[in-house]
Amino acid sequence: MKVTVDGFELELPAGTSAIDAVFQAGKDVPYFCAHPYLSPVGACRMCLIESGSPRKNPDGSFIMEGEGEAATPKIFWFPKPMAACTMLATEGMHIRTAATSEVVSKSQAGMMEFTLLNHPLDCPTCDKGGACELQDRAFEYGYGASRFGFDRRHAEKHYPLSDYVILDQERCIHCKRCVRYFEEVPGQEVLDFIERGGHTFIDTAEGGLPTGFQGNITDICPVGALLDNVARFRGRNWEYDHTPTTCTLCPVGCSITVDARNGRLERIVAHENREVNEAWICDAGRFGHVFASEQRLTTPLVRDEDGQLRAASWDEAVEAIRQGMAGLDARDLALYLNADSTLEEGIAAEAFAGLTGLASIDHWPRQPGYGGNDPASTPSLSEVAQADAVVVLGADLGEEAPVLELRILEMLRGGLLPAEFHHGTAIADLRLVERPARKRERLAVLSSQPSRLGAQAGISASVEASAALAGLTGSSDHPQVKAAAELLSGAERPILILGAEALAALSGAARSALQAFTQRSGTRVLALPAGANARGLASLNLVPRSGGLRYDQLAQARVALVSRLDPYGSDEAQLPAQAPHRQFLIVHDSHLTATAQRADVVLPAVTNYEKRGTTVNLEGRLLPLRPAAIHSGEAGDLIRALGIVAEALEVRTSVRGIRSAQTLLSERLGLNVAELPVNGVRAALGMRYEAPAANYTPRLWKEGMKRTDAPHQTMIELPVISAAPLPGGDD
Ligand code: SF4
Ligand code: SF4
Ligand code: SF4
Ligand code: FES
Repeated sequence: MKVTVDGFELELPAGTSAIDAVFQAGKDVPYFCAHPYLSPVGACRMCLIESGSPRKNPDGSFIMEGEGEAATPKIFWFPKPMAACTMLATEGMHIRTAATSEVVSKSQAGMMEFTLLNHPLDCPTCDKGGACELQDRAFEYGYGASRFGFDRRHAEKHYPLSDYVILDQERCIHCKRCVRYFEEVPGQEVLDFIERGGHTFIDTAEGGLPTGFQGNITDICPVGALLDNVARFRGRNWEYDHTPTTCTLCPVGCSITVDARNGRLERIVAHENREVNEAWICDAGRFGHVFASEQRLTTPLVRDEDGQLRAASWDEAVEAIRQGMAGLDARDLALYLNADSTLEEGIAAEAFAGLTGLASIDHWPRQPGYGGNDPASTPSLSEVAQADAVVVLGADLGEEAPVLELRILEMLRGGLLPAEFHHGTAIADLRLVERPARKRERLAVLSSQPSRLGAQAGISASVEASAALAGLTGSSDHPQVKAAAELLSGAERPILILGAEALAALSGAARSALQAFTQRSGTRVLALPAGANARGLASLNLVPRSGGLRYDQLAQARVALVSRLDPYGSDEAQLPAQAPHRQFLIVHDSHLTATAQRADVVLPAVTNYEKRGTTVNLEGRLLPLRPAAIHSGEAGDLIRALGIVAEALEVRTSVRGIRSAQTLLSERLGLNVAELPVNGVRAALGMRYEAPAANYTPRLWKEGMKRTDAPHQTMIELPVISAAPLPGGDD
């Protein structure tokens, strides 16, 4: 299809919108209501263009103008400018933008004048200032002054739509992005316009916005009308250090931008990643970051003769570890790390275990498997969105992998992945429609608890995971389980998603039966990892060697290093209240947790927001972590903590810093992990180990938001000592 924009002819795929034709031609047009992931509705009337098309005679030939060889099809122009976002570009269409048409530039400036008629223009105190689409477009396309002089309408400037989202009614330009987002993406009709004319504003039904994915409207609002209440008034956009990185609160691994100011993490926004989270993140990932800037451990702590933990230098920490391990062998050390640790930290732990010969090494929670974790057969998130049948079994996606829920809902809408143009994205995708029809019959949710996703599924049942598994793979009297099995068997691209509850129930016979069923029906299985990087760490040898102690046997270890785990603060590891003997405990953590409070030496840890490294998400994608500018004193990653212990043991590890870890990792994976794009790269990571049956409780939302609401509850005020040179490390 040939289209001409401002005299420049270009070839475009059928179905392209006129606004995308303009951007494809390298031209510009202002827009507010259009959004790549939402239906185009033509609400703001800012994207005006002049357009015209050739017409045909009754015999099918074009109506021509000009004589002889110079004759060309005559273009019939629309009498008035048109909104480009809702218009389909057609064969032979001509488009004029503000660059070549005075009518267009005057229309756009007039439209801008209307938009600003009642706008408060309080940019100096507006959180959106400096990153505001209205500011930018008013500067580029406005008249520069208004011809109207009257008192502006006043409305509520602090109107809470929920605890996390505040509406400034005066700033809303009625683009309807937020309303369409809720209707089209999470499928919740909770927001709409009320009143009329100049008094129109958005509001929710009683009860406010539902938790889960509400924060996304603060990203897509083109102005400062919808504001993130956790980050409100924390800084101007140009003051933030923006760091694109990966969220590791759950195994989806959404791309995020971490905004820090004066060494504090103030805001998290979604970073577009078409393969993983598209333009969305969940509320736990967005708002659950406050802990990272509160009550941090910034120096080592050593228990003194009075039994109190006190701030210490690194040399004192090394000396305390040396004394604590006197008479013990390096092999007596038990090493336990969190499953959200990076691959680099994992490989450093593996190297340390190899060097010292320690047998007690583990990570928690371990990646459970269904026994057929062939990395190449794991469906990607985009394949989930394009499946024709999905069964979710024994999963609480709100706690285990929230954004996966959005990708499943995308499947119900027809799996229309956004089209791509050379300018990076299609701005108005005409395949997307308001209030889309949902193919609910393609989704089955079988879980012991009612869930948000279950309410949107055609087949939904409250059933124990073990019963659902048995019914799915054998014969079942349960009508919904039977229907779910038929759904998978009759589909062309079926996907089965197994959550924690299902994986815990998947032992022996159930596992073999499931493998037989998935092979027979051609079903691909997505087993949800237990921790953010559990899948990546399962590719390393981080499990007890012969005679070694598992994580839940920590109490039996004479000396242990526990990294960013809190076994004595939660019941997950089911440890006895006291070790059966005097245990020398080294804790590596960012906060003074219950476990850290009983440690002999505490080494300060960076959070994953401040870390450099690599994580692996649920679909087997390698994603980079990049360090945001957050003040954490002398805190370091596990590689540094292991360096300190190695120094106390007077051994020299082969992995002494992030660079040596990344070199080793790159050699093993055959790709340079130091240069991973923020969108990540899928890799066929083999699994060296999978737990036979996991027993853990995914609690992302509860934990994340608890930390946000009450960051001080379990932490004490800590003394800070001046920075001292750090021993060891190659960086
Ligand atoms: Fe200024 Fe934009 Fe805020 Fe309006 S929304 S006050 S134009 S920064
Ligand atoms: Fe648009 Fe923002 Fe108003 Fe919603 S609040 S209609 S996103 S301007
Ligand atoms: Fe973070 Fe998971 Fe939420 Fe994504 S879905 S933002 S990775 S917690
Ligand atoms: Fe709003 Fe086209 S009418 S972008």
